[in-house]
Amino acid sequence: MSEYERWEKRFSVPEYIFGEKPNAFLAKQKHLLPAGGAALSIADGEGRNGVWLAEQGLDVHAIDFSPTALKKANALARKRGVRLRTELADVIAWTYPTEAYDVIAIIFTQFMNPEERDRVFAGVRGALKPGGLLLIEGYTPKQLEYGTGGPKQVENLYTRALLERDFAGFTDMKISEYETEMDEGSAHGGMSAVIDFTARKPV
Ligand SMILES: C[S@@+](CC[C@H](N)C(=O)[O-])C[C@H]1O[C@@H](n2cnc3c(N)ncnc32)[C@H](O)[C@@H]1O
Repeated sequence: MSEYERWEKRFSVPEYIFGEKPNAFLAKQKHLLPAGGAALSIADGEGRNGVWLAEQGLDVHAIDFSPTALKKANALARKRGVRLRTELADVIAWTYPTEAYDVIAIIFTQFMNPEERDRVFAGVRGALKPGGLLLIEGYTPKQLEYGTGGPKQVENLYTRALLERDFAGFTDMKISEYETEMDEGSAHGGMSAVIDFTARKPV
């Protein structure tokens, strides 16, 4: 089964497998968000994060390759009374626009191998406006011991050194690695080893 088929199958249930509430790390960054502006949510899935960003007053562009997930994202936006611009796209092949977004969120997108991630992160560096905010959460290699979600390929997981290298020159960089009990729908539950990253593109 291809990755595409695997995600389509996972999302083809009525419930929101990652829940309808935003990712906990993302919600905690509310104080860093601008009052308005454009946001991009990469591999936004069923829309829990894109919809929450729209509720914070941002004009949100949510991209994902799963039509089933984006249909659920649009339904969630309607239910919550916000506008979400969804686009069916392979985030690895996508043409990232130049200096278009005030905020970019990358929440649990570790389906990318290092080469693919390099391409996406280069797109992200270019797509943020100067001073724009980057928010990333993913698993660390320790997650392989827990087996409570995420990929099995260690090279897809994030370390502090990797994020510092890939976003060298960014300002206000904060990175924290910790273990936590996740409660994000039926898909993300149990003890997990994660890394949180916030930083701004230099002006
Ligand atoms: C672990 S889920 C996370 C979804 C969302 N970020 C969240 O936190 O709820 C990974 C998402 O990546 C999407 N995805 C996987 N490979 C992709 C690709 N090449 N291009 C676009 N989306 C992809 C899946 O459809 C799925 O929605």
